Amino acid sequence: MTEQPIPLARRVAEADETMIRTMYDLAEQQSGDLVRLEIGEPDFDTPAHVIDAAARAARAGATHYTPNAGVPQLREAIAEKMERDHGLVTDPSEVVAAAGATEALFLTLLTTADVGDEVVIPTPAWPQYRLQVQLVGATPVEVPLSAAEGFDLDADRVIDAIGDETACVVLNSPSNPTSRVSDPEVVDGIVDAAAEHDAVVVLDEVYASLDYAGDGRSLAADRAADNVVVINACSKQYAMTGWRLGWLVAPVHLAAAAIKLHPGTSSCPSSLSQHGAVAALTGPQDDAEAMARAFRERRDYVLQRVEEIPALSCPTPEGGFYAFLDVRALDGTSFEVASRLLKSHGVVTVPGEGFGAGGEGFVRVSFASGMDELEAGFDRIARMVRDELA
Ligand SMILES: Cc1ncc(COP(=O)(O)O)c(C=O)c1O
Repeated sequence: MTEQPIPLARRVAEADETMIRTMYDLAEQQSGDLVRLEIGEPDFDTPAHVIDAAARAARAGATHYTPNAGVPQLREAIAEKMERDHGLVTDPSEVVAAAGATEALFLTLLTTADVGDEVVIPTPAWPQYRLQVQLVGATPVEVPLSAAEGFDLDADRVIDAIGDETACVVLNSPSNPTSRVSDPEVVDGIVDAAAEHDAVVVLDEVYASLDYAGDGRSLAADRAADNVVVINACSKQYAMTGWRLGWLVAPVHLAAAAIKLHPGTSSCPSSLSQHGAVAALTGPQDDAEAMARAFRERRDYVLQRVEEIPALSCPTPEGGFYAFLDVRALDGTSFEVASRLLKSHGVVTVPGEGFGAGGEGFVRVSFASGMDELEAGFDRIARMVRDELA
C-alpha cells in the first residue's frame, strides 16, 4: 500500500455530505437509548401479497434482465395507477420504471440537463436533488422559500430564477421536509414560464398518496404540458423503500431518451421488484390504505404535541410524514439545536440547514416512526425546550 491514497474524482470533494447522513453517523456514535425521528421511511413492512408475488416470480424464472423501461405489465399497471389514484391520464409508452424515485429523478436530469446548465430548486428541499444536479455536472440554483409564508411555493421567486441557462425546475409536493402541498395554479404558472425557456418541470410526487388536505391528485393532472415529468414510486405508499422501485411519466420523446440512457445507470430495476410492484399496484389496497390512516393519526398526534409547546410551531403537514419544527426560539443554528437534542436528550432529528438555504431555523421530525417513538420523542423535545427557556 502506498502512503498517499489514490486521488478521487473532483466530484467527491465537491459533493455536499447530506445532513441526514451526518445525523445518522452522529447517532451511530452515541450510546444509550435513542429515539430515531430522522428516518424518512415507513416503519411498516411490505404487504404480504407483494412479497408472495415477487417470490412466485422468482420461482417462475423472472430472474433475468427486463426491458430498459420495465416489463410491459408494470408500465401498464403504473399508467392505470396514475389515472386511478392521481387523475393523471397517461400511456404506458410514457412510463419508465427505475430503481426508486431516486433513479427516476437522476435519469430525468441526465436526459434534460447538460453540463453547465442550471437546475432551479426551491428550498427547503430533499438534499439529493442538489447532489444529483452536481453529479450530472449542472449547477443547482436554490430559491429559498419564506418561512414567514409557511414555505408556500412562491411563483414569482421561482420564475425570476428561470432563464435561458435553466434546464429544469424541480418541484416536490407534498414536500420533504415542509409537508406543504403546492397550489396547482402556482405550479401552472411555473410550468408556463419554464416552457418559454425550453425548460422541464420535474414534479416529484412520491408522497402524493399521503395527501391529508386533498385527494392525492397530481399537479400535472389537469394540464397537457410537454415540458412536465412526474416522478412517483412504490417506496412510501406501499412501504417498499428497500425494493427500489419508482418511475417517471414523461412526454414520449423524453421517456424514449430516458430509456436510451438507462443501460448506463442500472439497465432496469430489479425484475423481482417489478413483479412485486405489479402486485402492489393492481392488488388489494387495504394495507396501503391502513398505513395512510396510521400516518394521518400520527400527523394529528404530532400537531397536538407541537401545539402544547408554545415556543415551537410547524406548518401544518398537508401530506407526507414530516413536521418541520420552527426552533428559532432556541439558541444557535438548526445544527446546534439538533446536536443538543441528540447529545443531551437522545432524540435524532435533521437540522433544517441540511435542506438548503430556506431551512435554517427549523428541524425536521419524521412521523414515519411509530406512536411510542413519537410520544417518547416529543416528551424529550418538550423537556429540552422547557429547560432551555426556563
Ligand atoms: C422527496 C423525495 N423524493 C424521492 C425520494 C426517494 O424515493 P425512493 O426511495 O423511491 O428512491 C425521497 C425519499 O425520502 C423523497 O423524500
